[in-house]
Amino acid sequence: MVKSAPIILAIESSCDDTSVAITRDSQVLSNVISSQQIHNQWGGVIPELASRAHLENMPHVVAAALSEASIGMDEIDCFACTTHPGLLGALLVGSSYAKGLALRFAKPCVPVNHIEGHLYSGFLEDPDLKFPFIALVVSGGHTSLFFVTSFRHFEVIGSTRDDAAGEAFDKAAKLLGLGYPGGAIIDRLADLSRRNGVQFPRALMNSSDYEFSFSGIKTSVRNYLSEHHPDGFDEKTLAMLCATVQEAIVDVLVTKTLRAVREYAVHAVCVAGGVSANSRLRAKLAEEAAKSDVKVVAPRISYSLDNAAMIGFVAAQKVKEAGLDAFRALNFEVNSKALRIHRHGSRAES
Ligand code: KG4
Ligand code: ZN
Repeated sequence: MVKSAPIILAIESSCDDTSVAITRDSQVLSNVISSQQIHNQWGGVIPELASRAHLENMPHVVAAALSEASIGMDEIDCFACTTHPGLLGALLVGSSYAKGLALRFAKPCVPVNHIEGHLYSGFLEDPDLKFPFIALVVSGGHTSLFFVTSFRHFEVIGSTRDDAAGEAFDKAAKLLGLGYPGGAIIDRLADLSRRNGVQFPRALMNSSDYEFSFSGIKTSVRNYLSEHHPDGFDEKTLAMLCATVQEAIVDVLVTKTLRAVREYAVHAVCVAGGVSANSRLRAKLAEEAAKSDVKVVAPRISYSLDNAAMIGFVAAQKVKEAGLDAFRALNFEVNSKALRIHRHGSRAES
């Protein structure tokens, strides 16, 4: 007999994090994340290596998630997995693993959109979060703003035209001679007292839409370095440059997010994705939102980065709506495509 809220074993494998969580609605019993380090030496995620690493990691991460939750496989009511968007091979490993478990234990398996996972991750931190709200999803692969009105309905109101915010952080970090991924390193080294030391571009910050463009940052950093520091720079300059790059990216994100909050007349904003770990982004968003009495929900880092808890949570909402039996067929497929963007107010496809 299934209890009112099913216990779900969720798998996330869309990029370079192998994650497995045991969840029960918004309650997270465990959320194990194994970040693949193998890509760091290449300065970016190598898809084939990611698939192989997921395959190797998966049994260990599943075992760790069960053990941390003190749950046996026989107590799992339902499985869930990310099916899109992401790296095709990586998605295939996670979804095939989940389907295999579902077949072996004769349980349903719920396919989940990765972006929906990020969109609703605020509920893991604050189960009292109310619709509607604006969600900012910012990672190495995505930078988009959403108007979210229910668990079924959300609208993409703007996205990046080129680089994602995390990509801009990572490319700037590379030019500054820092490691990959460089966003967290820039955050750590930034000397906030000198955040206006150089004015890097804030593309589209005051445009009337919610589009973003971050590709100009790397060009400006490259030009600045060759003009002002052709022979290298000292640590103080590095700390200033980290702060100014960060400020340029954060300024655009915060300005556009708060404009969306005003124009869509909502009282809450959620941030998710790896870049939402940025301390300056969190601080500035909180500071600006407080001026207009807007609530900011910034989930803890383990729910902001790619993680399976958010996948389990979305799966639970789908089960509430359609029932467990709707997910017994296991006939879903993976695909690498991102959300289609509707600019005129219709519902985004998921
Ligand atoms: O969500 P995530 O773990 O993976 C995907 O890209 O899907 O995000 C990783 C991105 C990287 O670009 C990384 O540099 C950035 O998030 N990031 C940060 C911080 N921590 C991670 N960027 C700025 N400040 C941080 N503290
Ligand atoms: Zn993600």
